[in-house]
Amino acid sequence: MSALEQQLEAFRQQVTSVDSEADLQQLKVAFLGKKGSVSQLRRQMGKMKPEERKAFGAAFNRCKNQIESELEDRRKHLDQQARLRDLERTEDLTMPPTRPRFGTLHPITRTRRELLATFRRLGFDVAEGPHIEHEAYNFDALNFQPEHPARDEQDTFFVRGQHGEEGSGIVLRTHTSPVQIRSMLTRQPPIRVVAPGTVFRRDDDPTHSPMFHQIEGLYVDRDVSMADLKATLLQFTSAFFGTGLDIRLRPSFFPFVEPGAEFDMQCPFCRGDGCNVCKTTGWIELGGSGMVHPAVFESVGIDPEEYTGWAFGFGIDRMAMLLHGIPDLRLMFDGDVRFLEQFPC
Ligand code: PHE
Repeated sequence: MSALEQQLEAFRQQVTSVDSEADLQQLKVAFLGKKGSVSQLRRQMGKMKPEERKAFGAAFNRCKNQIESELEDRRKHLDQQARLRDLERTEDLTMPPTRPRFGTLHPITRTRRELLATFRRLGFDVAEGPHIEHEAYNFDALNFQPEHPARDEQDTFFVRGQHGEEGSGIVLRTHTSPVQIRSMLTRQPPIRVVAPGTVFRRDDDPTHSPMFHQIEGLYVDRDVSMADLKATLLQFTSAFFGTGLDIRLRPSFFPFVEPGAEFDMQCPFCRGDGCNVCKTTGWIELGGSGMVHPAVFESVGIDPEEYTGWAFGFGIDRMAMLLHGIPDLRLMFDGDVRFLEQFPC
C-alpha cells in the first residue's frame, strides 16, 4: 500500500511542472503505461493472501483513478493558460483584413489581345519579329530606295551603320512590316499572318511617342485582290467595333505596296455624324494598306506572276486610345499607377 502512496506522491511532484500535452502523455505512460511504475506494482498481487489482495486491488484502482483525474486537471489547466496567452496578443482580431492589391492588364496589352483574338477568328496566324532588325528587312527588302527619307536618322534609330550604307545597318525597327519579309521567307503561300509588336521612331509629342505599337497583317495566295483586302478590313472592324460602320480606302504611297491606300473607319462614337473624337470628320484614320509590291515578292523569292497578296498595318496605341477615350498617347507609357488603375479588368 505504501508503495502505491509513494507512487502517487512521486506523480504529484512531477505533474505540476508539466507544461505541454506531449509531456503530459509521457508522464501518463511512465506511471500507468504497461511498463509504468504503478502498473508494475500489480504483479505483487500474485503473492498476496486473498484478504490482502482484495484490499490492494481497491487501493490500486483508487490510485490509478486519482492519477488519471489529476492528469485531466493538468490538461485543462494547460488549455486555459493557452487561451489566456491568446487573449493577451495585441492584434485586434476584429480588424478587417487588408486586401491584396491585384495589378491589371495595361490598356495596350488588353487591346492587343483583343485584336489578336479577332484576327485569329478570321483565320490568321500570329507571327513575331525582333525589335532590333536588319536594315535590309526593315527597308531594302520592302523596296525602300537607298535615298528614301524614312531611312534618314531623323526617323530611324540606327544601332549600327548609318543612312547611306545600303543593306548593312542594324536599326530599331520603324514598323512591323519587316515581319512580312520574315514570314514570307519562312512560310509557303497561302500565308495569312498578323504580327503585333513594338516599333521605334525619333518622334516625341502629344500624339507621337518614340516607342509605340503596331499590328501588321499579310495575306499571300493565288488570285488575292484588293477586294479581299477591303472585305477583310470590313470584317475586322465589324468584329471589333460592331457592325454597321463603313470603311474607306484612300490612295496613298508606301514603297512596299502598289496600289497603296490609307484606310479609315467610320467613327464608332458618332457613327459618321462628326464628334470631337473624329474631329468632326466622321472618319477615323486607322493605318496603311495595299497590294504587296512585285519587288517585295522578288526579294523573298516568291513569283509575282503566280502569287498576289495584300498587307496592312496600323497603330495599336491609337486603337486603345480610341476605345478608352485617352487624350494623350504619352500617358500610356508613363507607368503612373493613378492612370493605370483607371483600367480595371
Ligand atoms: N508600315 C506602314 C507604316 O508603318 C504601314 C503599312 C503596312 C502600309 C502595310 C501598307 C501596308 O506606316
